[in-house]
Amino acid sequence: MSSTLSSSAAALPVSSGHGEAAPRPALARAGTPLLGTVRVPGDKSVSHRAIIFGTLAVGETLISGLLEGEDVLNTARACAALGAQVERLGPGAWRVQGVGVGGLRAPSAPLDFGNSGTGARLMMGMVAGNPITATFDGDASLRRRPMRRILDPLARMGVEVVSAAEGGRLPLTLRGPRDLVPIAYESPVASAQIKSAVLLAGLGAPGETSVTEQEASRDHTERMLTHFGAEVRVVPHGAHGRTVTVVGRPELKPAPVQVPADPSSAAFPLVAALVVPGSEVVIEGVMTNPLRTGLLSTLKEMGAEIEYLDERTEGGESVADLRVRASRLTGVDVPAERAPSMIDEYPILAVAAAFAEGTTRMRGLSELRVKESDRLAAVAAGLAQAGVRHRIEGDDLIVEGRGAVEGGGTVTTHMDHRIAMSFLVMGLASLNPMKIDDISFVATSFPSFVPLMAGLGADIAEVS
Ligand code: S3P
Repeated sequence: MSSTLSSSAAALPVSSGHGEAAPRPALARAGTPLLGTVRVPGDKSVSHRAIIFGTLAVGETLISGLLEGEDVLNTARACAALGAQVERLGPGAWRVQGVGVGGLRAPSAPLDFGNSGTGARLMMGMVAGNPITATFDGDASLRRRPMRRILDPLARMGVEVVSAAEGGRLPLTLRGPRDLVPIAYESPVASAQIKSAVLLAGLGAPGETSVTEQEASRDHTERMLTHFGAEVRVVPHGAHGRTVTVVGRPELKPAPVQVPADPSSAAFPLVAALVVPGSEVVIEGVMTNPLRTGLLSTLKEMGAEIEYLDERTEGGESVADLRVRASRLTGVDVPAERAPSMIDEYPILAVAAAFAEGTTRMRGLSELRVKESDRLAAVAAGLAQAGVRHRIEGDDLIVEGRGAVEGGGTVTTHMDHRIAMSFLVMGLASLNPMKIDDISFVATSFPSFVPLMAGLGADIAEVS
């Protein structure tokens, strides 16, 4: 049976109650080897964009494999509130009836993005090219995150920031001008969210809008723009950077989107299989876009046995089945320029590094301080709870691996799904179980995490 997110449904408060619901502690303990074949949910970045581009196209876009996590559902509700018809046809199968570039209508209530920086930031860019007023809000974690990085370029394009909380944070209200001004933007940070917000805004401006980054961030927006028929140019910039240019005011044509499995979610069963002795796990259909595979490169350098099976292309992205066997890992030096290709994977890499022999130095992690939590601090606190020697030097995290982890203690997750899943994975191989204070936020990106891990033999359970 299908269900439609109409504008009235979108105006209802979101169901997750993030930040207000009672915390749900959980415990992970060591047990048998992890064995089996799994498929993790659809990629979060591609899922947000599929809904957004479906909304900006004229006509009907069909999506398969959509991640039905809270973050993406909030984006779907927000797009419905802006006039799209967003309908669930079955598991992972969605239909979006778009309204076209410039065709958004003013929402009747604030748009609530819950925990999702991607949803909020991309949709600020999306709204910019429409002469409407919209309020953006989120949970306590999202309200703490910096938004000036989006507001600054949008203001240069003519968007009015009607109001914002202190420091330019959520809740904030934007008003799109009648005529948006195209810009050539040099982004101070390698961030796909900034790049995407400016390019999405550029769709509503006459002429060409470009974004230059010193280090290339994930390119799903550029790929999807092309897929939906926009004119896009990508040229190299310096040693690792790129300039992406979009021609404004296109008519986007609906195009089917097949969402590949999320490498950032695959990272959890993958590292679990590496550190739990005797494990062998296959993770199917994982996206291997080179701008997302920094963790795989790093783990291979550490000695991880990871094989790419049946490499193929699905929905315009390269994918492979990953066969992972428990491995002896050694510490490595992770260069700063690799950060954009594994920005969400440092918490789980820190866990792998704790089980490795020797020192792992992860360089250039300043962006981790402004994720769903201050991940640098949260990872360090978790490692301390587990008795892992580590230190922070400037923006670098250094973990002294000793081949085994003492474990024990309770990790504070700070409303951060990746902190929660990382330390539960640690508990599957540490000498003492690991407890986390709240597993609820796992639903933002990986709602099936616990049953999927249990299917491989992992002992993870909610506790009081
Ligand atoms: C994302 C980009 C990354 C990442 C986030 C998803 C995206 O953020 O951390 O989980 O879909 O564009 P930044 O680009 O701001 O680093």
